[in-house]
Amino acid sequence: MHQVKGVVARGKGQPVELVTINVPDPGPGEALVKVQACGVCHTDLHYREGGINDDFPFLLGHEAAGVVEAVGEGVTGVAPGDFVVLNWRAVCGECRACKRGDLHYCFNTHNATQKMTLEDGTELSPALGIGAFAEKTLVAAGQCTKVDPDARPAAVGLLGCGVMAGIGAAINTGAVTRGKSVAVIGCGGVGVAAIAGSALVGASPIIAVDIDPQKLETAKRMGATHTVDSSQVDAVEEIKRICGEFFDGADGADVVVEAVGRPETWKQAFYARDLAGTVVLVGVPTPDMKVPDLPLIDVFGRGGALKSSWYGDCLPTRDFPMLVDLYRQGRLDLDAFVTEEIGIGDIEAAFERMHHGDVLRSVVVL
Ligand code: APR
Ligand code: ZN
Ligand code: ZN
Repeated sequence: MHQVKGVVARGKGQPVELVTINVPDPGPGEALVKVQACGVCHTDLHYREGGINDDFPFLLGHEAAGVVEAVGEGVTGVAPGDFVVLNWRAVCGECRACKRGDLHYCFNTHNATQKMTLEDGTELSPALGIGAFAEKTLVAAGQCTKVDPDARPAAVGLLGCGVMAGIGAAINTGAVTRGKSVAVIGCGGVGVAAIAGSALVGASPIIAVDIDPQKLETAKRMGATHTVDSSQVDAVEEIKRICGEFFDGADGADVVVEAVGRPETWKQAFYARDLAGTVVLVGVPTPDMKVPDLPLIDVFGRGGALKSSWYGDCLPTRDFPMLVDLYRQGRLDLDAFVTEEIGIGDIEAAFERMHHGDVLRSVVVL
């Protein structure tokens, strides 16, 4: 058993607390990870606000990289000393979704079976099955993906959630390739990652849309070829105009990524895509939101695909090492997502800054 510092949300809306937690030694199939870096994500805030479920207290943090300290019986995939990026869930390999290859729709995922606890023995619910705002965390070994050990933990840990969601929404779900036009609506961390992913595979034009001019500047730095301030102009018309200039007869973008998670921006995405184009919803809507009222004839007439992207449709063991290698080669600027490195005691302040929208990511470095 290990006594370490961890950041816990005890109840709905309460500020998070830095406390001592107990982390068991790894049992069969489990790994103990010494956390080196963990990004602060909107989902951590949603957990704190009770928006995910009521299983308080939560051990927050889920965008993490670290070093495996020990493994339990039967673990073969990773070993002590391995540098790993953590993913949400270890898949079963047996269910219908796994057998079909849709691994992250596995309904039978394995997380660590032993529980981390508060000092009084209260069991903690680790955020997204990880709980990495802690000096050490216990996960299923299958949640650990080994990557190049020379990579900066604060940068590659972000592949564990938001950056992977954005890159994957473009290149996995949206199947963006060179020669395709892309528009990304919403240029927060996720949208900008979709832009970086599109640039990585050589798409053009890459049109960034946001209502905040500052976000559009960042989007440009990360590979957007055009920016559209949709608080000033009609985003749909602008996307159509730009794509029409690039490709004769184009009526919109081949792929439109919606990275806000709202009906009105999804509707923009719907009408801004070219005939037979693809819409990818990666922004997370709230449960009360409805699909916008659209003429069914428009759905029929425009063809193409209306998709959503969960975790960027990633396969961690394929995508994490590949993206870390591209980062190491200077082809994917993961450092640009790290706005600031902070201490484990500074998470409340990071939540505040997230509200103001002036950070892509604050990353706790341990
Ligand atoms: N049109 C265009 N952009 C918008 C609009 C709008 N109507 N409303 C908000 N935005 C922009 C914001 O200005 C911001 O740049 O969307 C971006 C959202 O970014 P973040 O809040 O940083 O969120 P991010 O981490 O990128 O996640 C995107 O997925 O995980 C969820 O809760 C998260 O729904 C959010 C989405
Ligand atoms: Zn499965
Ligand atoms: Zn996240």
